Amino acid sequence: MNTKVSVVGAKGRMGETTVEAINKDSELSLHCAIDQGDGLDQLSGSDVLVDFTTPEAVMQTLEFAIKNNIHAVVGTTGWTDEKLNKIKELLKTSKSSIRIVSNFSIGAILMMRFAEEAAKYYESAEIVEIHHPSKKDAPSGTSQSTAKIIAEARAKHKMPAQPDATSTEIAGARGANVSDIKIHALRVEGAIAHQETIFGSKGELLTIRHDSFDRESFMPGVILAVKNVAKTPGLTLGINDLIN
Ligand SMILES: NC(=O)c1ccc[n+]([C@@H]2O[C@H](COP(=O)([O-])OP(=O)(O)OC[C@H]3O[C@@H](n4cnc5c(N)ncnc54)[C@H](O)[C@@H]3O)[C@@H](O)[C@H]2O)c1
Repeated sequence: MNTKVSVVGAKGRMGETTVEAINKDSELSLHCAIDQGDGLDQLSGSDVLVDFTTPEAVMQTLEFAIKNNIHAVVGTTGWTDEKLNKIKELLKTSKSSIRIVSNFSIGAILMMRFAEEAAKYYESAEIVEIHHPSKKDAPSGTSQSTAKIIAEARAKHKMPAQPDATSTEIAGARGANVSDIKIHALRVEGAIAHQETIFGSKGELLTIRHDSFDRESFMPGVILAVKNVAKTPGLTLGINDLIN
């Protein structure tokens, strides 16, 4: 029997592409596609819901999913540790499984794996992320995940603090600090989703760059997450475990 999937944020850029991807997949059927102003009760009866909305709206979707034991795959970004802890708490009394994925594209996942590998060899590591100007959150979820991965690798290898002589700056010039890794967020018309992870040591730079040119690039990851979400109870982050 087909898995019944609903999409929340279905009129948005990612939501619309997700509806098309579900309709093309013979193992999935679209239960409902809702957007702002539609009642969440339409989601009842879904096996899995996919949320591509806003950092504010996604909490309501997930509270509904958890209360009604519906599994959820979340692409919406803008997560904080506080919000994640709230979801973990709510999940204690539910049969729902939730998977929150900051980036569904294979290239972005490989970029994070390569960054983890490179981190231990370089004194400096900084991230530049470039997105379209309609993006609401900054820095991007992918850049924050990458920063945390690099920071963990640096800590594991007992690396000292990064060299940086800055003593005065115009606020923001050195970027956002995530786990002691600087992230610089650009919002540029024409861009979709791009990231450069830059490593440096004396005499050399290594740049790992990923570009998403089309939202289609996220769909294999979205479908993979939908088909596997029920297999991992509780809250799971990313799809690294599904891609091997
Ligand atoms: N994880 C990934 O791989 C990935 C990739 C691209 C974008 N994103 C993220 O996905 C989210 C959506 O991105 P987008 O480019 O599609 O944005 P978008 O603005 O095009 O679409 C968001 C949609 O959500 C709807 N919405 C807002 N509040 C709602 C509510 N309360 N109930 C139902 N629908 C509501 C809006 O009307 C809109 O149609 C963002 O957080 C973005 O950062 C994630």
